[in-house]
Amino acid sequence: MPRPGDGRGAQPDYTRVMAAEGGVRPDDKDEELEERELDAQAQARRRVALAQIRQYPDAVLRMRAREVEHFDDDLVRLAELMAHLMHDARGVGLAATQVGVLQRLFVFQPADADDVTTIVNPVITERTEEVEVADEGCLSLQGVLVPVERAVGVTIEGQDVHGETLRLELEGMDARVVQHELDHLDGVLMMERTDDESRRGALATLRRSI
Ligand code: NI
Repeated sequence: MPRPGDGRGAQPDYTRVMAAEGGVRPDDKDEELEERELDAQAQARRRVALAQIRQYPDAVLRMRAREVEHFDDDLVRLAELMAHLMHDARGVGLAATQVGVLQRLFVFQPADADDVTTIVNPVITERTEEVEVADEGCLSLQGVLVPVERAVGVTIEGQDVHGETLRLELEGMDARVVQHELDHLDGVLMMERTDDESRRGALATLRRSI
């Protein structure tokens, strides 16, 4: 990637090829400084992404999204935008509601896959009786982690971004993420899924940051 301020922004491809092939970058910067710069860039991208994601107490986060009826280029572009924002924000899931679009779709990063999965009009058709409590965070509730009980496994059905039928059997972290994202499409935040004490603590954190 091109680095700002070094006057060689026109040669990013060269740098990338060198990095991909394990070569040394053609400059005299020490590695530690380079790492710090990359880290700063990643943090900057994260801040930019988070600024485009609706934050608590935005009223849209409480609204129910509508079923998607038109599978067109706009929908594909929306899913791509959401995948980019999720990636830059270092998230593993993002619902359309969180970018202010009240349509029923979300993106998520499966634990064992490179590609982001988009699910449109998702419905959980099966869930295990077995549940598990684990801490969850949310890109719309920054700085908050609360314990949430979720089914250990779920079957989720819906469509992909082109309207093809999709059916996924998920467990563990993946199952947790899709349950969290589906809640967003119904205007439900993880605060409503946690215990009273954790909720009070989370609200205090959020009040400080508003
Ligand atoms: Ni969330």
